[in-house]
Amino acid sequence: MKPTPVTEASIQHAADLLRHGQLVAFPTETVYGLGADASNPEAVAKIFAAKGRPADHPLIVHIAGAERMADWADQVPEAAWRLAEQFWPGPLTMILKKRESVPLAVTGGQDTVGLRVPANPVALRLLQAFGGGVAAPSANRFGRISPTEAQHVAEELDASVACILDGGPCAVGVESTIIDLSDEVPTILRPGRITRSQLKAVLHADIRLSSQTKIRAPGMMAVHYAPNTMALLCPADTLIAMADDLCAKGQHIGILAFSAEIAEIPCLHILRLPADAELYEPALYSSLRALDNLQLDTILIEQPPDHEAWAAVNDRLNKATV
Ligand code: TXA
Ligand code: MG
Repeated sequence: MKPTPVTEASIQHAADLLRHGQLVAFPTETVYGLGADASNPEAVAKIFAAKGRPADHPLIVHIAGAERMADWADQVPEAAWRLAEQFWPGPLTMILKKRESVPLAVTGGQDTVGLRVPANPVALRLLQAFGGGVAAPSANRFGRISPTEAQHVAEELDASVACILDGGPCAVGVESTIIDLSDEVPTILRPGRITRSQLKAVLHADIRLSSQTKIRAPGMMAVHYAPNTMALLCPADTLIAMADDLCAKGQHIGILAFSAEIAEIPCLHILRLPADAELYEPALYSSLRALDNLQLDTILIEQPPDHEAWAAVNDRLNKATV
């Protein structure tokens, strides 16, 4: 399936496809989503089939604006309105108690629903043209690296997708921060560009990190967002020794670095990313994909600092590596 250039006509066509229960891949500011009409369980079932995703993993419902929250959420707490005002449209997903009418196919059988207003203009136009909510996971096969370009979607998903809207590369590049507001204490289920401190500053409340809670999100599983090539995280000071060692054994090594100074030698394929997390993020998945496509023996990834700005990157790298 070739990606379709974005025009007003192609957006209208994509909205029609959604109305007819078809799947549409579309850009968001985080990653490309694989969308279906969230009110149509048969359409939603196609998402799980196309991705090879287990049916009990819930999907995020994308809506055109915060005023639509009450169409999906049973109770919209004050905290949700405040976060929406501050961060929507943007890379934040809120988990709220669902309305009776929200299909269980969307929520993986849970009594909560994930909602997000994406900040990408193509996504917003599509949501407005469609009118309803669009259930959309990242448009990759289950467990694989999320797509940040239309071409990634085309490589990974087959004809089960009726249309891939090509909105160019995603500006943020890592999936949205997920905050669960359905319980007493707000809990971050997945770190993203919007940090815990930013959320705290708006809510003036303690915010838990999900490490203690049960697995409710596929992104919380140990291996996810993963290349096929064996990938290892290494601190900068051991990366070079490790690369030398593996090269001496005849391996071809991919390196994803942002600070380590590494001499170019033929057995190494080095990709350098920016040392600023907000610039590193949009390049992360396409770089992992590029290295994964080179048929290397091992990918060594320089360990980023243990700093809040790097929380999303560290989370994804921990899951992409063994
Ligand atoms: O940035 C993003 O969030 C992208 C774009 C396309 O919007 N979407 C995305 O979807 O990353 P997906 O399906 O790959 O990840 C959604 C995460 C999953 O970990 C899922 O379990 C969690 O959201 N989630 C959705 N609804 C939930 C719910 N009711 N309770 C707990 N977790 C939920
Ligand atoms: Mg995903």
